This record gives sequence, structure tokens and C-alpha cells, in this order.
Amino acid sequence: MRNKGTNNINEKIFITTAIDYANDIIHVGHAYEKILADVIARYQRALRGEENVLFLTGTDEHGTTNYQAATKKGVSVEEYTSKISKADQEQLDILNISYDRFIRTTDKDHEEIAAEFFAKALKTGDVYKGTYEGCYCEGCEAYKTLSELTEDGKCPNHPTREIQQIKEENYFFKWSKYTNQLKKLIQDKEDFILPKAKRNEMLSFLEQGLEDIPVSRPKHKVPWGISVPEDDNQVIYVWYDALVNYYTFGTQKGFWEEQTKIVHFVGKDILRFHALLWPAMLMSLDLPLPDTIYTHGFINLEGQKISKSVGNVIRPDELVNKYGEDAVRYYLLKHGPITEDVDISLNHLEEIYNADLANGLGNTVARIAKLAENSKLEFEPPKPAEFKHIWEEEWAKPLTKYRADKALQNIWNEISTLEKHINENAPWAEKDTKRLEEILNFEVNAIRRISKLIEPFIPLSSRKIQEQFFKKNIKATKPLFPRV
Ligand code: MSP
Repeated sequence: MRNKGTNNINEKIFITTAIDYANDIIHVGHAYEKILADVIARYQRALRGEENVLFLTGTDEHGTTNYQAATKKGVSVEEYTSKISKADQEQLDILNISYDRFIRTTDKDHEEIAAEFFAKALKTGDVYKGTYEGCYCEGCEAYKTLSELTEDGKCPNHPTREIQQIKEENYFFKWSKYTNQLKKLIQDKEDFILPKAKRNEMLSFLEQGLEDIPVSRPKHKVPWGISVPEDDNQVIYVWYDALVNYYTFGTQKGFWEEQTKIVHFVGKDILRFHALLWPAMLMSLDLPLPDTIYTHGFINLEGQKISKSVGNVIRPDELVNKYGEDAVRYYLLKHGPITEDVDISLNHLEEIYNADLANGLGNTVARIAKLAENSKLEFEPPKPAEFKHIWEEEWAKPLTKYRADKALQNIWNEISTLEKHINENAPWAEKDTKRLEEILNFEVNAIRRISKLIEPFIPLSSRKIQEQFFKKNIKATKPLFPRV
């Protein structure tokens, strides 16, 4: 068997994001994860070829949270989740997220595959019938042990919700059976949970021992879900349904197999489901496991959790309409939460916009274009092969560990070096035509190279610079990033 999880560029790669609950339209926090995964998908396509990369995102539409949101609005849950799902997809399109499929857990193919998945586990005996008595947090859509609750019996992630005390008949998954296999997986595979700091958290959770968990809910309590095969009184528990979305699309496209590298991008609040429950579900059916669960922290807005009750929800389109998609992408990528939570603010966004985009990149592009136009020289356009190997260079190495922030820093260092080159060589004052040609050729080619490097991060600006510079006669145009 091959060593799964290497960075061998001849292999295929499957990249996924968490699928967002359809109880409300996504905000900038949710969008960060999609932007980060999009950068990796675009970089991997450049590195391995389009046909070797598959990128999936979508919406998680069953379960109580979505059902209650629809009921509150007085519309049918089908209508409500369709509306939110469509709005989410529009938000991702505005941000130029290059997904291959936007999956909905209400899609017919997914419902069938999730039901089959359940049926197979039932057949192996890993899913069995029992009774659950304990706590449930509807915000997390998760069963809770007392030790996971705060002193006053609340869920730390959803302190405004009441914890449910439930006693019900369910189907259970033999999670406990996989404790040792999971431990070994996490210990043996360095890159299984990234960043590394999160591995210990999962290992210490395993140390406490896993208990079997319910993977269905009674239909009279949760009417909105996929029916359990051959038991119409039960629906499949929302996580046992949602996690299978990756397999639904992966297997259809031939990307759920040992030869494919599988990477899930998720927030820290749902790491446990991805690092411990999902692999156990796969082990129970003897299916290939993911290679990496990349975990990010949370984005807070001016010191506060983004939430409707705080009244500080910002949707991606509000920012894009004001600053442009690339500014939003750049800002979140540069300052996004790598492990721990980070604070963003509009003032900070504007500061970074002016410093790095209007000044740094935008101004350098404008200066070189103007100098090139004034010189009346012609610049031989680059051949596509010239950039073939840039993705394997040192600057891009952080991307193999999903560190878009560090890769961006490397590119912006190149921009600073180029700015210095312009200032030191003062082409505007150069009288010697040969020397001027030499200086400008260097600078034009440097900006052409930079336009390629930024392609995965800020694709629209990359295209604009290429339209302006990948020709013989270069002309000045309007600013890429007008000052705000
Ligand atoms: N539906 C589940 C995921 C199922 S995946 C099989 C879910 N949905 S969610 O809408 O609550 O969250 C979706 C993703 O957005 C998660 O990865 C979550 O961590 C992330 N984020 C939600 N709020 C966020 C911030 N404020 N900042 C960064 N990421 C955030 O969980």
C-alpha cells in the first residue's frame, strides 16, 4: 500500500470545507474557511493539473437547528433551506470560490448514499438499537456529557440555548470499538491533525475513552432528516448524515480511494467530529480515511463573537461591494485565524488595504506600467512554460502546510524588493536607452512573475495585471486598488 498523505504531486487531491448549516446566511467567519480552502485548491490545480484536484463545499440542511429556523419564519423547511442554501452559494460566488460542486445534504444522490452508508453499518453490527438518556445541545447538534458543560449546565459554544434532557430510542454507533485505532492513527500520522497543537487535544479526549453515540433521532421529535433504512420512525442523526457528504461527491468522482490525498478544512469547534467520529465511521465500513484535518480558529469582530444576538453579523457581499473581492480575500487570508481566534475590524481592513494593496501591489503595478508606457519600448510577452515551476519554489512551501498567510508574506517581500529596485535605479531619470531597457525589462518581468504568484490568492487582480502586462506594448490603466 502507498504511503497515503504524502505531497507527491502526481497524486490526486480532494479538498473540502465544512458544509454550513442552512439556518441562516453565512457571515465573514464562515467565509474565511472557504477562502482558505479555495487558495489551496487553486494552488493545487496549478501544481498538479485541473483534473487531479476536486474541491467541495455546500450546506448542511437537516436536523433541528435548520428545522427550528424555518418554523420561526413560518415557512416550510424545504423552502427555507433552499432559500438559505442559494444565498450561501451566491456569497461564495461573490468571493470567487472555485468549488467543483456546491453540495446540499438534501440533494437526492447524497440522501441515497447517506442511507446506504447507514444500512451498511447496520449490517456489520456497528450500528445497533438502544436507548439514550442524557444531554443534547441543539446548537452543536451534539450529545453532551456533563463534563462538557459549564458549571451552570450550559454549552460553552451556545450559552444562550437550553441544554435538552433527552431519553429516547435510537440507533447507536459502536464508537468505543475504534478508540485504539483512532489513537494509533493520530499518533502515527503527523499530518492527520494540523496545526499540530490540536493533536494533543484529540488524544486527551481519547484518553477519557469513547462511548457509543446515537446516530438517529426519533421522527416525532426531529421530523426533518433522512429516514433510517427500514425504520420509518427514525431519521439519521444530522452529523452521521452531514459527514457523509464528502464521501458522496468523492466516491462519485473517483476521489475517495487510497491514491487520493483527502484534506478537510474545518473550524476548531467541529474538529472532534472530523478527527474522531468521521474516521471511525469510515473504519467501520473499511473505507479510505482522510489524510489531513486542517483546523482553524474563529474570527471575532471588534472583540466580539460574530452573532445575531450581538448584532454584529457582516456578510461577505457587504464587504465585497465596498472593497472588492480580492481585498476581502487578501485581508482574511493575511489575518485569518491559524489556530487561535483573531479579531478583525473595518478600520484594520482599510489600513491593510491602503498599505498592502493600494500602496504595495497597486502602486508598484501603476509605476511600472507608466514607466513602460513612457519609454515606448516593447516587452516580449512571456511564454506559458516560463511559469511552470513557480509552484514548487521556496516561496510556495508554506502552502504545503496550508499556511496561505506565510506564502503571501513571501510574495509581498518580493514586491518590496521590486519597489526598492525601482527607487534605486530611478528609471524615470535614466538617459542611457540600453540601460533603461535593461532596468525596465527586469521590472516588467518581475511584476509579470508576481501576477502569477498571486493567482491562487487574489485571482481577479492577477488576471487584470496579466491583461495589462502580458503584451508587447504596456499601457498605464486605472488603479487596481483605489485608495479608501
Ligand atoms: N454543519 C456543520 C458542519 C458539518 S461538516 C460535515 C457546522 N456548520 S456551521 O455553519 O456552524 O459552521 C460551518 C463552519 O464555519 C465550521 O467549520 C465553523 O467552525 C466555521 N465558523 C463558524 N463561525 C466562524 C467564525 N466566526 N470564524 C471562523 N470560522 C467560523 O458546524
